[in-house]
Amino acid sequence: MSTMPDEPRQRVQQLRTQINEHNYRYHVLDAPLISDAQFDALLRELQALETAHPELLTPDSPTQTAGFAPLKAFAPAVHRVPMLSLENAFSEAEAEAFDRRVHERLRKHGEATLRAGYAVEPKLDGLAVSLLYAHGELVRAATRGDGQTGEEVTQNIRTIRVIPWRLSGAQHPAHLEVRGEVYMEKAAFAQFNAQAAAQGERVFVNARNAAAGSLRQLDARLTARRPLSFFAYGVGACEPALLPDTHSAILEQLAQWGLPVCPERATAADLAGCLAYYQAIGARRDALPYEIDGVVYKVNQLDQQQQLGSASRAPRWAIAHKYAAQEQTTTLLDVQFQVGRTGALTPVARLAPVFVGGATVSNATLHNMDELRRKDVRIGDTVWVRRAGEVIPEVVGVVLEQRPPHAQTISLPTQCPECQAEVITLPGEAVARCSGGLYCPAQRREAIKHFAARRAMDIEGLGDKLVEQLLEQGLVRTVDELYQLHLAPLSALARMGPKSAQNLLDALDRSKHTTLARFLFALGIREVGEATARLLAQHYPDLDTLMQASVEELQQIPDIGPVVAQHIHQFFRQPHHLQIIERLRQAGIHWDQAPAAPALAAANALPLQGQSYVLTGTLQSMTREQAGEALRQRGATVSNSVSKKTHAVIAGEAAGSKLSKAEALGIPILDEAALLALLQNSVSSPRQ
Ligand code: IVH
Repeated sequence: MSTMPDEPRQRVQQLRTQINEHNYRYHVLDAPLISDAQFDALLRELQALETAHPELLTPDSPTQTAGFAPLKAFAPAVHRVPMLSLENAFSEAEAEAFDRRVHERLRKHGEATLRAGYAVEPKLDGLAVSLLYAHGELVRAATRGDGQTGEEVTQNIRTIRVIPWRLSGAQHPAHLEVRGEVYMEKAAFAQFNAQAAAQGERVFVNARNAAAGSLRQLDARLTARRPLSFFAYGVGACEPALLPDTHSAILEQLAQWGLPVCPERATAADLAGCLAYYQAIGARRDALPYEIDGVVYKVNQLDQQQQLGSASRAPRWAIAHKYAAQEQTTTLLDVQFQVGRTGALTPVARLAPVFVGGATVSNATLHNMDELRRKDVRIGDTVWVRRAGEVIPEVVGVVLEQRPPHAQTISLPTQCPECQAEVITLPGEAVARCSGGLYCPAQRREAIKHFAARRAMDIEGLGDKLVEQLLEQGLVRTVDELYQLHLAPLSALARMGPKSAQNLLDALDRSKHTTLARFLFALGIREVGEATARLLAQHYPDLDTLMQASVEELQQIPDIGPVVAQHIHQFFRQPHHLQIIERLRQAGIHWDQAPAAPALAAANALPLQGQSYVLTGTLQSMTREQAGEALRQRGATVSNSVSKKTHAVIAGEAAGSKLSKAEALGIPILDEAALLALLQNSVSSPRQ
């Protein structure tokens, strides 16, 4: 490397910048751009220059400091253009009032219409930041702070992989403040929290808190380990003012420069369009890969934004139309233990009713004792309750500051609340179980509900309530007795009558013709879900052979590990289970025998034989079940969990933790188009 002998000062400066950057990439990002030897060459050149010119040596030179030093505190960062907040609308009426105000004000400026309608975007639930690009180079990043002055978090922002250090393309403004939201994707958050919990570290109530906490780490190495993302949603100062004249076009420009912009952004001609967007995004809220708490409507034309101006806190040209909050606080009144099909005791929180996620919630799960202890939940506490979409409401945390003096700790009962049998927690398991087995009325009840379920024996009309009635009246005790039911006692049940009773008997009759996979799933063997049941049925088309299989034989099946194999083996060793299976067969339960065994099928009939796939997320052109079926027809196995044996993961929209796990394990990931191509290219003679 040649240095102009008369410019040692400049070269020293240049070397220090380069070395600092490489140090940062090496120590914080774990992503060096140059080899150690190249790095040493730069460092030696700097040392040589500093030795030759001692007046240039400074204490902060990378020759004097080791690696990467965490900050002592964040430096203040003044925003050239203040970072404002948004007004909220909590109802359509409030959104209409906003639209009216906009039109009234514009009329005063002689403007009759919104010239470019509204720009509409999801409102990400994260942390606002301002990124300063000088001639296309990221030179500073800051949090919002009080809107005028934030904290400088450049080092931390540089760890976010999607944020470019240098803008792509050309003709960048000399000074550009990009505004946007740092957030954590739902799947990344779930994985991050699970990992933290497993290591006994602090868990976060939601992705927003995790994102905010991650960015405010003084040591950027900690931020680098957090899976953060970013979407740009606007600009602050821009000099020279070369940007397009609508908000939506500015976002396009930012995207052109390589900044991530939310793909859900759109424009709406008028308020009706905004409200339709609110509905459409709301319907997909749970499927989106990130948390949102509303959508934002922004007057699109910039000169009209200027005419409308800003109040002290928020602009008059934009509003956030909020969705129902998915988290609320309420009081924990009591904790009771519910017994499931496998005897698992689930602590259930009884809550002071609270409106959350669009419904009134008075019960929420606390998952298991480990979770309960980790969150240190006590009766009388104010707790955070979360209800998102179809997910069962859960208690996600405690507001410790509001703990009353006599808040009561919760202990695991020693006896089953339903049958008084001993409660056992096996070493290494988080779940405590009732040891009563099928003597426990709760386990029996749940086993029958599971057996009748749509995805199991699919007994139409046999819902949870009716199962409870049948048990209470002593009409059934075990699943085989369902097929011994008679019209008269059934008709005599409350809310039943002869017609519904006959319908149930017909449904029971229809359910007798099933598949081996459904039957195996319906039996409720521990750890045998639908996917495992299908695997078993594929490998053992004959039930008797499966029942005889040893643990070792079972483990030969891909995706069946030692624990599952043990559960299956154990299940078929219990005389009680054998008796029930025999009675079910006698009652007429049957399935079609599979045709030719895979090994005997034509060579090209099963082109995906031996390959194991995992499906995750939402597909557009088919359901996951249909995709699984199509793969299985081609000889592939479809599994529920990602492991090293997985051939590829097929990820639809809003794919979750399985996708992250695949990424972590370096398993190939296929999108829907790739799946369709795979199916196209591996057409086989369909099997039953
Ligand atoms: S625009 C001057 N657009 O919401 C307008 N904000 O409650 C400033 N936010 O501090 C904000 N998504 O952190 C805007 N698409 C979006 C947004 C968004 C999330 C956040 C932002 C802001 C807060 C206001």
